[in-house]
Amino acid sequence: MTTATLDVSVWRGGAQGRYETYQVPLRENQTVLDVVTWVQRNLDATLSYRFACRVGMCGSCAMTVNGRPRWTCRTHVAKVAKHGRLTIAPLENLPVIKDLAADMTPFFEKWQAAKGVFAPSKTREQPVEQITPDNAARRAADAGIECINCGVCYAACDTVRWNSDYLGPAALNRAWTLVNDVRDAGNAARLTAVAAAGGCHACHSHQSCQEHCPLALNPTASIAGLKRRTLQAYLRGEIKP
Ligand code: SF4
Ligand code: SF4
Ligand code: FES
Repeated sequence: MTTATLDVSVWRGGAQGRYETYQVPLRENQTVLDVVTWVQRNLDATLSYRFACRVGMCGSCAMTVNGRPRWTCRTHVAKVAKHGRLTIAPLENLPVIKDLAADMTPFFEKWQAAKGVFAPSKTREQPVEQITPDNAARRAADAGIECINCGVCYAACDTVRWNSDYLGPAALNRAWTLVNDVRDAGNAARLTAVAAAGGCHACHSHQSCQEHCPLALNPTASIAGLKRRTLQAYLRGEIKP
């Protein structure tokens, strides 16, 4: 009896690396992360990659699978293999540390550059703000709040590819959730940061980020909100050109 196998080309090395091809037994309900793990456990223990939760919670397992950025733990081989083949590479638009592990440092530095950190407006002693569920700003923040920083949208964005200064969809989406958080006091600095070169106005609105986000979030809509809000801030004199 022969066992069905999959031909899997896996990126090995750093930026100047190459693809190595492995034969991996085909299994029912196998995910792309299962395939990578099988190679590492059975064929080459030096294969580097990243994962943690295996259930679509942490965002650390994102890789390029047959040319498209995906969460590998939530991608079934049956859905993406073409003629019994898979090609797996690190996320694009980021430096490669080794093999399938991309360096997320620029991604998180841009998150910080977009002032993606909550700036409290109250002290511990003051009462907590009441925000009703039907509040428009809260609904706008809710739409983007579930982002887990997996980097899939960042890898899918052509503007990031062309312009290394562009903050990218995830950082700008995060900024938009905070712009709509009435408890936050950091908006003057945040709107100045996202209105600068490489900020929201560099987005071409082609929605690749929305199309690829595994959580079906819509960073394009968040960025459109920032474009409107920064323009208002200019006109009101809240930020300087
Ligand atoms: S917006 Fe979606 S694709 Fe982008 S980092 Fe957040 S969860 Fe990942
Ligand atoms: S809509 Fe903007 S952020 Fe999203 S992929 Fe296109 S250029 Fe990038
Ligand atoms: S391992 Fe956590 S999302 Fe895939």
